[in-house]
Amino acid sequence: MPVETITWKNGKIRFIDQTLLPHKLKYVSTDDIHRLWRAIKRLEIRGAPAIGIAGALGVVIGIRTSKAKTFDRFLKDLQNASGYLGSSRPTAVNLFWALKRMERAAGDNRSKSVAEIKHILLKEALKIIDEDMTSCRRMARFGSRLVKHGSRILTHCNAGGLATADYGTALGVLFESKRQGKTIKVYVDETRPLLQGARLTTWELMREGIDTTLICDNMAASLMAKDGIDMILVGADRIAYNGDAANKIGTYNLAVLAKYHKIPFYVVAPISTFDFNIKSGKEIPIEERNGDEVRTVSGKLIAPKNVKVYNPSFDVTPHELITAIITEDGILRKPYENKRYE
Ligand code: MRU
Repeated sequence: MPVETITWKNGKIRFIDQTLLPHKLKYVSTDDIHRLWRAIKRLEIRGAPAIGIAGALGVVIGIRTSKAKTFDRFLKDLQNASGYLGSSRPTAVNLFWALKRMERAAGDNRSKSVAEIKHILLKEALKIIDEDMTSCRRMARFGSRLVKHGSRILTHCNAGGLATADYGTALGVLFESKRQGKTIKVYVDETRPLLQGARLTTWELMREGIDTTLICDNMAASLMAKDGIDMILVGADRIAYNGDAANKIGTYNLAVLAKYHKIPFYVVAPISTFDFNIKSGKEIPIEERNGDEVRTVSGKLIAPKNVKVYNPSFDVTPHELITAIITEDGILRKPYENKRYE
């Protein structure tokens, strides 16, 4: 059973504070847009599709108190809420996709009363959640076709239920493969600096009874050379028109290593993670986070407190290094511009 990562309950957004996992499973409920902004910024809610859902529900709570009587005035309030939510994290395009979709839903109903539009916006946000659930299941089924019985699989960061409304993208493929009776062995990069692999992915995989082994990020090359890895499965935060894909920092390292060791490298992501407005990964905005995330581990200082730090949260894997992109509409192969699904 997937965890309920983010839902709408009793007029509030209910989400897991992922910063406390795996030690504590704590749910937070809020109808305060500032609290939600902080939750996205601090990675209490994280992972591209989940951030998109947070954005859509955030618009609902953001416009709830709007006193606007005309559509134009209401649209201004909506755009203020949307602009604010969009300032939380720049890379996952699902956030901007969801915010635009909410604005479109309002625009398409401009002739209705403000009260009616508010109701329509809640329905639209719930539809985004439903669609995410369906696309997780579809990606899982397409991806599982590529997984052979006995496969040794490496993954990075967390592209599981904690990053979506259902059981994830890359991890969904693993859950579905297990459901089909395939035996798999999964290696998980710890994913410094914030350890999403160690804290979240291992937790999710072990809950489902999957054979899980945690490695430090710098062990991947040795693992590929010595023990052998059959495939790498990762998620994505934004995929450019040419197939270049931004994902958690360290994903690009794995793709380079995969090429050298001739290991297939798959990205699993819904269509809402594609940004067709940008030609290549060079145009993807990369979030740069606070250096203290690198200077510390679980809040404990591990380096001189004034050392300079380089802390980009994501990197871009060039499309040449990606064997295929698994989406809810099928499996895409190069050239990705053709958008021909298998
Ligand atoms: O900084 P995070 O934890 O939000 O980064 C998440 C990732 O990089 C995931 O791999 C990505 O969002 C895909 S989630 C299905």
